[in-house]
Amino acid sequence: MCGIVGFTGRQNAAPILLEGLKKLEYRGYDSAGIAVTNEGKISLVKTSGKIVNLCEKIDNGAALPGFSGIGHTRWATHGVPNDINAHPHLSNDGKFAIVHNGIIENYIVLREELLSKGYTFESDTDTEVIVHLIEMYYKGNLKEAVMKTSARLEGSYALGVICSECPDTLYAMKQASPLIIGVGVGENFFASDVTALINYTKNVIYLEDGEFAELRPDDVTVYDCRGRKIDKEITRVVWDVEAAEKGGYEHFMLKEIMEQPRALKATIEPRIKDGHVVFEDFELTAEELKNTDRIVITACGSAYYAGCAGKYVIEELCRIPVSTELASELRYSNPIISDRTILIAISQSGETADTIAAMKECKARGAKVIAIVNVVGSTVAKLADHVIYTWAGPEIAVATTKGYTTQLAVLYMLATYMAERTGTLSSEKCRELVQDICHIPGDIQRAIDLNADTRELGRKYSKCTSMFFIGRNIDYCVCLEGALKMKEISYLRAEAYAAGELKHGPIALIGDGQLVIAAACYEELFDKTMSNIKEVKARGAEVLGIALEGNRKIFTEADDVMFVPKTNPLFNTAAAVVPLQLLSYYVAKENGCDIDKPKNLAKSVTVE
Ligand code: AGP
Repeated sequence: MCGIVGFTGRQNAAPILLEGLKKLEYRGYDSAGIAVTNEGKISLVKTSGKIVNLCEKIDNGAALPGFSGIGHTRWATHGVPNDINAHPHLSNDGKFAIVHNGIIENYIVLREELLSKGYTFESDTDTEVIVHLIEMYYKGNLKEAVMKTSARLEGSYALGVICSECPDTLYAMKQASPLIIGVGVGENFFASDVTALINYTKNVIYLEDGEFAELRPDDVTVYDCRGRKIDKEITRVVWDVEAAEKGGYEHFMLKEIMEQPRALKATIEPRIKDGHVVFEDFELTAEELKNTDRIVITACGSAYYAGCAGKYVIEELCRIPVSTELASELRYSNPIISDRTILIAISQSGETADTIAAMKECKARGAKVIAIVNVVGSTVAKLADHVIYTWAGPEIAVATTKGYTTQLAVLYMLATYMAERTGTLSSEKCRELVQDICHIPGDIQRAIDLNADTRELGRKYSKCTSMFFIGRNIDYCVCLEGALKMKEISYLRAEAYAAGELKHGPIALIGDGQLVIAAACYEELFDKTMSNIKEVKARGAEVLGIALEGNRKIFTEADDVMFVPKTNPLFNTAAAVVPLQLLSYYVAKENGCDIDKPKNLAKSVTVE
């Protein structure tokens, strides 16, 4: 989704803004622009397409002098992606420029009001009303104009404002969209996320909704929505620059696949003490769990698929009913939630609008909320009663890999933790499970090693126009995630079905040469899955099987096989997804797709 950056200091702002925007590219965008204040004027350049176009237009920033400015990458919501709709937007008098991430829901009413007062509009965006409101309310005091403007806005916004009359000052406001302040020495910044800042500073301030900040080169002041100064803590970011760079890999996605053993280790190891799972900041008592009649897991996309696998594991280990709900549906479903419900919200970014809305809805109905989240200080983390961080490090590729597998690991640990507390499993059994969890980083490494030659399969299957993924039980969850990876980055039609559902419709589509990827790792149901494989083979399908290392039976039907190590069957999803991550990567590479920044997609979906 859109990304915003701001800089004020003693060096030329434009090159720094461009660098920041490049770091935000992974969020997804279709146009970009920057504006700087210089000699009492605002200079602004924007363009549709990639940031390189913008860099070319302004000689990498050299052609746009000025010590403070704002920048934006736009992911179109209102109005097509073109130069005019790109941000920043300028006021009619040319004194103000703004960048905005979010959606102004009441923009039509505001637009009519402003038109009736003589303001003219250039773009089709919802954003443009903001800059005209600032002009309308400005009577020599920018802080006041900004506050009056924000009081009129409904919806979500992370907003950056500059004014030609106060050239070294930036304003940044946050309401339900991500925004952080970077505190430097003689220079200060704002950005949608830390990746845009860590080259310059690791000291950040997390703004809360309704707060806004005034940035000058030597100071940052944060105010509440009524304009009262508030003291904010400066937090040191733990991520390092290297973690947010490619480190010799051709794509972030491949780097992040390979980083999984390390990421899983970082997620698991600190939580294992003397053979038990221990979470640093919270404790669920046996009493609380006894009072829990239901667990609801909510998330979007891959995080939802992690939740689907989590359901199987929690129900199996804890015998508490679990339902996994898409956040975009849950939020509008009048859900049956009470103070006896535990809600588990899962999100890599912690900024997914639907997940946040579903959490709020369930919290208001009394649920206790546990968040599984990767980004420290994110909205999901702040909203939850308890947070379990995934410690995957920055994930830059739009298609999640280590984000997803670390979410699985947390769910496995949580399930084991709850099973020990409720007493559904003996402490000996729990110890065994803990040992199995500790093996996951090694299992994933083994899955990577076993599938080192996936490039060849990627080449072979890159010309398929559609793929079916089938599996049973947690293998089905692997298929859901595998199919999503494939469609996200290689744009192929890839659909996952519970293997037992084939006969209820999808098998009508199976014919000569149709590729079926069959996950058959869950041993208990292996024979059942094999029957489904036979059914599709009989109709001419080509089958790529995913099976446990050492399984020879699969060769009786499958044309190709990718192996994964034998693990505790309940925890196998984490290793079993690895060959599918690699396969989608190599198919996309073979087809020349933009792997890290697939078309139409955004890394964090901060609007509904
Ligand atoms: C995964 O590859 C996708 N990019 C997407 O489905 C993602 O998992 C979803 O948007 C949820 O994001 P979150 O984990 O940041 O909440």
